[in-house]
Amino acid sequence: MEIRGKVALVTGGTDGIGLCIARLLKEKGATVIVCGRRTNLLASARAEGFEAIEADLSSREGVTALAQTATARTLDILINNAGAGVDYDLAEAIDLDAVDRTIFLNLDAPIHLAALLVPQLKARPEAALVNVTSGLAIAPRAGGPVYCATKAGLRSFTKAIRFQLRGTRLNVIEALPPVVETAMTASRSGSKMKPEQCAAEIVAAIEGNRQEANVGMVKLLKLVHSISPRLAEAIMIRF
Ligand SMILES: NC(=O)c1ccc[n+]([C@@H]2O[C@H](COP(=O)([O-])OP(=O)(O)OC[C@H]3O[C@@H](n4cnc5c(N)ncnc54)[C@H](OP(=O)(O)O)[C@@H]3O)[C@@H](O)[C@H]2O)c1
Repeated sequence: MEIRGKVALVTGGTDGIGLCIARLLKEKGATVIVCGRRTNLLASARAEGFEAIEADLSSREGVTALAQTATARTLDILINNAGAGVDYDLAEAIDLDAVDRTIFLNLDAPIHLAALLVPQLKARPEAALVNVTSGLAIAPRAGGPVYCATKAGLRSFTKAIRFQLRGTRLNVIEALPPVVETAMTASRSGSKMKPEQCAAEIVAAIEGNRQEANVGMVKLLKLVHSISPRLAEAIMIRF
């Protein structure tokens, strides 16, 4: 797919991996719309030349408002990137409202945006829908049960709609990042991929009309999982 001249919406495109994807798409000649909640990050994005829309995607109202704005723009590329983790430790008190908001952001929002925007995307000469999941969609870690469940759910959803959309000009891509150096992983030690490198692999998958972007170490995880799902799960559960 040619990026030049396309219109792209990157949810959560004001920070982290999403911002790096937005920058790369813009560099390659796309008009890029980003969204997020923090006004300072939205202002920085505007200063960089993006259209930046304030939207909280952890609720149905936020998603609907964003989709209304997006439908006026004739999108070619939708990147469902906004996502977050949430605490869920059965040995402690659990904030179920925070859990529900995270499930909505990570899983419901991409499902709603696909329902609202795919008709328009399908009508374009060439288009891409990218859902950002995680290596943890393949095998969960014990420390993030809700996060992993949302990403596994989004992976399953992505595969099913790809099948529904076969034969159309809309390419459905799943992007599976490894641990990437962003605000989301600030409290984690160990090696982390740079967000620019992760974004480059995702954008290459869009340009190459691929179905999956297995980024960095996720390639190895997929290989291990294909040989022995039990071994992959045993490794990842303690990750
Ligand atoms: N970092 C990793 O190691 C890693 C690994 C695998 C997968 N991923 C996935 O990659 C995606 C991006 O992660 P990241 O690490 O780049 O995250 P990040 O640096 O924390 O950035 C998250 C982006 O999403 C926006 N966002 C968060 N909550 C939102 C909400 N309720 N409504 C609208 N926008 C919201 C944030 O802006 P505001 O906070 O201002 O709204 C920000 O622009 C996520 O789906 C994540 O699950 C990340």
